[in-house]
Amino acid sequence: MTITSSSAWRSVAAHYQAISPQHLRELFAADPNRVASLSLAFDGILFDYSKQRADADTLVRLLELAREARLAEAIARMFGGERINVSEDRAVLHCALRRDASGNKSGSSFPGGDCDVMPEVLATRERMAAFAHRLRDGLALGSTGQAIRQVVNIGIGGSDLGPKMLGSALSAIAHPALGVHYVSNLDGAQLAPLLQTLDPRTTLFIVVSKTFTTQETLLNARTARDWLLANLGADAALQTHFAAVTAKPGRAVAFGVDPDAIFPIWDWVGGRFSLWSAVGLALMVAIGPHAFGELLAGAERMDEHFRTAPFARNLPVVMALLAIWNTNFLGACSNAVLPYNESLRHLPAFLQQLEMESNGKSVGADGEPLDFASNPIVWGELGNNGQHAFFQLLHQGGRLIPCDFIAAARSDYPLPGHQEALLANCFAQSAALAFGKTADEARAELAADGSLAAGAIDALVPQKTFPGNQPSSTLLLARLDPQTLGSLIALYEHKVFVQGTIWGINSFDQWGVELGKAVAGRILPAIADPALAAGLDASTRGLLAFARQHLR
Ligand code: F6P
Repeated sequence: MTITSSSAWRSVAAHYQAISPQHLRELFAADPNRVASLSLAFDGILFDYSKQRADADTLVRLLELAREARLAEAIARMFGGERINVSEDRAVLHCALRRDASGNKSGSSFPGGDCDVMPEVLATRERMAAFAHRLRDGLALGSTGQAIRQVVNIGIGGSDLGPKMLGSALSAIAHPALGVHYVSNLDGAQLAPLLQTLDPRTTLFIVVSKTFTTQETLLNARTARDWLLANLGADAALQTHFAAVTAKPGRAVAFGVDPDAIFPIWDWVGGRFSLWSAVGLALMVAIGPHAFGELLAGAERMDEHFRTAPFARNLPVVMALLAIWNTNFLGACSNAVLPYNESLRHLPAFLQQLEMESNGKSVGADGEPLDFASNPIVWGELGNNGQHAFFQLLHQGGRLIPCDFIAAARSDYPLPGHQEALLANCFAQSAALAFGKTADEARAELAADGSLAAGAIDALVPQKTFPGNQPSSTLLLARLDPQTLGSLIALYEHKVFVQGTIWGINSFDQWGVELGKAVAGRILPAIADPALAAGLDASTRGLLAFARQHLR
């Protein structure tokens, strides 16, 4: 039986019919306790979902859906180390990466298949800390004996987005003298200008690739190696300029990385869930092992909350259920992520991978096609900038686009008046999207202005009317500190897992990324050799012909 034929699903659908005619204005008017009953707090995070087009009864029915999908058992299976990533026959143990980070050492094991993974997790955490301390203290020396001053993380997808996103989010506490950079793109326009700013004698590259076969990462790493050789000479000790993070250490050694500078990740960590592992090494170098530990502690606290809190008060569960409500019952096709904090500028891109690579699937874990929509398109941009760009469509474009507003109450960069204005804009936008402006209100405003004739007012009223009823949640953080950010990211990770569980999706594989890689492998040689284009489709042949004319 599919989830859509369950009585729980039908109950939510029937409830949707009843509640959908009510505007958010009416829902707010009907319940003076709405904000208290439709918000949750966890440590330094307030999750206000009162502006979702839902009420307490919606949650009750959605919770039935979670029970129908056996969510409690699924959570127990993940934390119990079962091989829930069935298509790859792997356990899903990213929560082990933050276990025992919050100080109260449980001493508990974290079973991964046949063994406890905690010894290697903790040993790796210690090695990372020692490595980061040496760099931060100026004790790591390059081949000429000068201290390393610049660190470049070379990786892509999960080997880039999480550490880069948190590196920006925590830039206020970054080491003042060490530069940490991220290179992911094949496009030389990213690496070439960066290299121009770097001194090869004082630069270290951390090559991060779980597989150590990813084309983008290896090409960038080879270019970095060539640049070092060209500048430092063929006999330079290049090993002092490289570290690697990989599940395939042999490949990193073959590349030329010193085995002592190779850090492991494991097949039980998906790339997009891996920032807590040695994949976060560049981040740890930037913010220090102590702050990195606080980040892990925040995530561990969210893990505990997710594992133990009743579903009705469980942030990841409630957040996921609301996303399912918006997607499968209200019919939303996308979800906007709108941080009102410059330091969170990479959060939308991080969440795009986390959500869309995990749940952007139309076949269930059992191989059966899904008879409902799965993950919406996640997109977003800094909210304040977006107000002057695409918010017009959110307000009056006639499309249902649920939004996540994310802000921190306290600023790390408190210029007089800026933070207050930023927060006012954040709160104003979610209110304006929710409540809109009726035609009568628009007309009254125009009339009060006194400068327009009646005909002109009539003409303007439709333009100045805002339908509102655009659903949103606001995640208001007390501040952007490592612990709160750890909790926030773990919250989204678990939200993804809950959605995948209810949709019957394996959130931990990503077969959809493979075809394009294979096709690129066939096209690449045809760029140089037209004869190899013969078997390609007509469009690709045409593109290749044009590209060949202009490539050099
Ligand atoms: O192509 C997608 C992907 O496999 C992601 O899932 C992953 O995060 C990224 O590529 C990088 O992979 P790797 O760490 O193996 O280089």
